[in-house]
Amino acid sequence: MGHLFPKVNKLIHGGDYNPEQWLDRPDILKEDIRLMKKAHMNCATLGVFSWSFYEPEEGVFSFQWLKNIMDDLYENGIYTILATPSGARPAWLDEKYPEAMRVSAGGVRDHHGQRHNHCMSSEVYRQKVKIIDQKLAAAFGSHPGLILWHISNEFGGECYCGLCKKRFQQFLHNKYHGDIDELNHEWWTGFWSHRYSSFEQIEPPYENGEQSIGGLLLDWRRFTTWNTTDFMNAEIGTVHAVTPDIPVTANFMKLYEPLDYYEMSKSVDIISWDNYPMWNNDFEPQSKISADVSFDHSIMRSFKRGQPFMMMESAPGLVNWQPYNQVRRPGMHRYTSLQAVACGSDTVQYFQWRKGRGSFEQYHGAVVDHLGRSDTRIFREVADTGEALLRLEPVGGSVIKACAALLFDWNSRWALKDMAGGIRNNKGYEETCREQYGLFLKNDIVMDIVSPNADLSDYKIIVAPMLYVVNADTARRLRAFVEDGGCLVATYLTGYVGENTLCHLGGFPGGGLGDVFGLYAEELDTLYPAQKNRVVFDSGESFEIRDFCEIIKTREHTQVLARYGGDFYENTPVVTMNRYGRGTAVYVGARINAAGMEQLYRRLWAESGIPFMALPEGVEHYTRYGGNGQFDFYLNSNESAVEIDGVTPGMELFSGSRTGEHLRLEPFGVAVIAGA
Ligand code: GLA
Ligand code: ZN
Repeated sequence: MGHLFPKVNKLIHGGDYNPEQWLDRPDILKEDIRLMKKAHMNCATLGVFSWSFYEPEEGVFSFQWLKNIMDDLYENGIYTILATPSGARPAWLDEKYPEAMRVSAGGVRDHHGQRHNHCMSSEVYRQKVKIIDQKLAAAFGSHPGLILWHISNEFGGECYCGLCKKRFQQFLHNKYHGDIDELNHEWWTGFWSHRYSSFEQIEPPYENGEQSIGGLLLDWRRFTTWNTTDFMNAEIGTVHAVTPDIPVTANFMKLYEPLDYYEMSKSVDIISWDNYPMWNNDFEPQSKISADVSFDHSIMRSFKRGQPFMMMESAPGLVNWQPYNQVRRPGMHRYTSLQAVACGSDTVQYFQWRKGRGSFEQYHGAVVDHLGRSDTRIFREVADTGEALLRLEPVGGSVIKACAALLFDWNSRWALKDMAGGIRNNKGYEETCREQYGLFLKNDIVMDIVSPNADLSDYKIIVAPMLYVVNADTARRLRAFVEDGGCLVATYLTGYVGENTLCHLGGFPGGGLGDVFGLYAEELDTLYPAQKNRVVFDSGESFEIRDFCEIIKTREHTQVLARYGGDFYENTPVVTMNRYGRGTAVYVGARINAAGMEQLYRRLWAESGIPFMALPEGVEHYTRYGGNGQFDFYLNSNESAVEIDGVTPGMELFSGSRTGEHLRLEPFGVAVIAGA
């Protein structure tokens, strides 16, 4: 495909701009334009929190100020991403319609204030949002500078009010076909005498209420995603009705747990997200931080495969809300910006353009500081990044193609969190997924990160850690993947429960997956933190195991690749392989350390015909493919230079010189090599 925004026809370099905070300073607004051009910015995100300026009193509207700003920007080559202002409510709205304010899990209604805290069920609130969105779309829908709708801001949270309770009951009524006994069965409410006789008796899981029914907890989380998506869809419908050709996005927050982004991402045209890593922290190596950011980019990229995504926000310099708000080390800004592009983003955008003088974000990093100068370190690094993006113009529209995927599943994640068993406070789902991704990345294999409902046919290998919820459809799709020749790797805690958290009978992994893997797990042993076991591979090599050990019974033809090295289940199988159809199903029954998993993957990559190569520590490599050919990005997250061999030769876009198979990258250095 071509550029994400054909009108701009470049990679986007921009950020959140809040001119409404400076309307009494025309000198500053004028200076903003001059400085944006100096920083090579071609886009500004406007109106994210502007409702009280658009509608200072109920029904009284004022858009001229925004029109002036958008006109000025456009005349200077700066396009606008326009937000709908539903991320924060004006005071008059809460004063008159208190139902718009959320109720917390304890059943207490919020006071007015803060942001991102609306009741998504409130009809009044939805109505007020619809009016302001319609007015905005009518006023700016045909503005030549408008390229994208930014729906609300960072949707999130839950509401436990009476309206939400009713809507939850309705959601359950629909899901369980109006049959309360179907719900009673799926939620296993015979336990502790929790049977319901009508849908009206069901409450949200108040923190001082029902917390013991796994099905209720999971359905509540699904409801929250559904209700938020429904609210978002209403906003999308409003702007699309006026501007069918302007795409929409909603900025996501990496792996934000309370919302299933697989569901939400279906409704938006373009994926975008806000990236705020804690670079250079004192508890993780830089290579790990970088690999985790890569993971976050990859899941965003995979929500809509075959299309670039947007890094909607990132911090110039620093943020203000982390426990320790350290400034970025020199060079890090460029690194983290280009890493986004390497991972498939066609935009580098910031929160925020200019620091405000007061309120909560007055010390949040910005391109322009209170100092107001353009010769600051941060401004120069931003401008350099803008220049770098200009050189990457041919990359626009190109995409990453992966032959490996990691299954990351919100339902399993939620249900594991709620599961009363194993390790109670943290079963390590996200960490385990990230670790597997990191092992592929360091061996030069980029993974997509997809849901169990994704089309799996592109992949040669799929790693599905701790896929706890396996319904009939997931089981069928995974079985088909293996039958068709794929290599599937699953682990302990796979397929314990079905769609609504009822345990599968007849052995885990359930739902028919036992045949695919050729085994069942008879017991799940949980180790105390200081306890360890070992896995011994058939090669004799041995690695540490912690946390979880399943005691496994294999079938006759299932191959055992590794056995336990200790405890009363010493010598019983830990890692197994089953040939099934034309493919291979590998089961990992315990939490084996990274070195052990890497050893196993090497064997599986080789068998699956997937090329791999260990990259130097802290080096990442991504390839984007597009109409202008292939672009190989090499990134060095280390504070020292690295030498890389086995590089694809071609024309390096920043230096304009040809490179061979060897590459030297300076600290935080990035090379982009254009090939055929
Ligand atoms: C989020 C929000 C922004 C801003 C930044 C600060 O991503 O969307 O409005 O508050 O955080 O880092
Ligand atoms: Zn509510």
